[in-house]
Amino acid sequence: MTKANNERSRALVEEESAYMAPTARIPYYDMVVDHGRGAKIYDVDGNEYIDLISSASATNVGHCHPQVVKAVCDQAQKLLLYSPAYMYQEPEIKLVEKLCQIAPGDTPKKAVFGTSGSDANDAVMKFARAYTGRPYMVTFQGSYHGSTYGSMSLSGLSLNMVRKMGPLVPGIYHIPYPDSFHQGVDHLSEKEQVDYFMRPLLDMTNMYLPPDEVACVLMEPIAGDMGIIPAPPAYMRALYAWCREHGILFAVDEINQGMGRSGTWWSIEHYGIEPDLMSVGKSIASGLPLSAIVGKADIMDALSFPAHIFTTSGNPVCCAAALATIDVIEKEHLLERGTELGEYARARFQKMVDEHPIAAAVRGCGLNLGVDIMEPGTRTKSAKMALKIVYRAFELGVVIITYADSVLRFQPPLVIERDELDHALDVIDQCIGEVERGEVPDDLVPAGKGW
Ligand SMILES: Cc1ncc(COP(=O)(O)O)c(C=O)c1O
Repeated sequence: MTKANNERSRALVEEESAYMAPTARIPYYDMVVDHGRGAKIYDVDGNEYIDLISSASATNVGHCHPQVVKAVCDQAQKLLLYSPAYMYQEPEIKLVEKLCQIAPGDTPKKAVFGTSGSDANDAVMKFARAYTGRPYMVTFQGSYHGSTYGSMSLSGLSLNMVRKMGPLVPGIYHIPYPDSFHQGVDHLSEKEQVDYFMRPLLDMTNMYLPPDEVACVLMEPIAGDMGIIPAPPAYMRALYAWCREHGILFAVDEINQGMGRSGTWWSIEHYGIEPDLMSVGKSIASGLPLSAIVGKADIMDALSFPAHIFTTSGNPVCCAAALATIDVIEKEHLLERGTELGEYARARFQKMVDEHPIAAAVRGCGLNLGVDIMEPGTRTKSAKMALKIVYRAFELGVVIITYADSVLRFQPPLVIERDELDHALDVIDQCIGEVERGEVPDDLVPAGKGW
């Protein structure tokens, strides 16, 4: 199927351009989404697409899951908001308990809510500094943690995310992410790789950053925006042990990678490490504005009210959506489903990597895979070819975007049907082939699109 037309989408995009400031969107194709069901979305022109990015990993249980929609509607009839800053409401009480129960590890937990992943990562910094009494944070180059001043300072991804807005929040140091493939050190032994990636941290904390003044290391155990890159387990063990040795908290950002995305509730579960603090967002309420920070209870008791308070955080409609979302993941066994379908998809992508020289590698677990598009036989990224694949897939009714310039971002809803998955993978395979053979014209990708 080739997309018939998108005239209405184009007209609406044009209409918006006069009023919407350009910073609010990373532009891909002119698509105005009208509605969605499961793994499918439909534009205002009536075209149907298979969604391979789940609204940026924010709708893991699928678009408009009936149980989530019902919970939202029922709660909306009762109460839209009474600010949790002053009063209690039942959905929030039930959700905070549930979140603490499903958080990794056995240590008693407490949590607080926010409205975006960004403010949850601000909270990591607040609680870590308050609990330890130490000023400094360590995060990773290439990471994305959000767009508020705190979380953009914690990030290290894009000049445009900080340009013209400094000074940023002080006291944050960035170290290289353990990405052996793109750093070209995957030929080294496991131990050599660990030494290689621990070295910048050790040098820094030997020379100019006293480790006993570091409050917290914050990381994504699987780096989403860098191209879905799981940190090597041996590195994670070494980093965690180093944090423990120096009394430094270890915090994980599960905003993109949590809520079943990698086949477990939280990506840190793949490493058997209990984090001290964890930020959650995106899919927690199936995309309604809700975030949370969950941490060991004594750490979360380190701040008194009103240190982290927002009028609309823990909104009852969002909390009802979150309770329903968690229930759906449990009752529909979506962790197991994501793991199984993820293994299947990974094998299919591996076949594409074996057959297509421009498909250089596939990484990840669960329905959470990154596929590198590179100049054949090299480690040179090809953003141009990756975008052509994305645009051609869109023509054929499959929505996918890129990460880190040239990595195809594969994060479909965990409820995707097997035939939908097969069809989408066939389309991606076809598009990679067409781009490789030079059959897709350059002008299919308008200038200035993508990251
Ligand atoms: C890992 C990670 N952390 C934080 C954020 C920020 O979340 P939000 O956009 O909800 O503020 C994102 C968003 O893409 C993310 O991927």
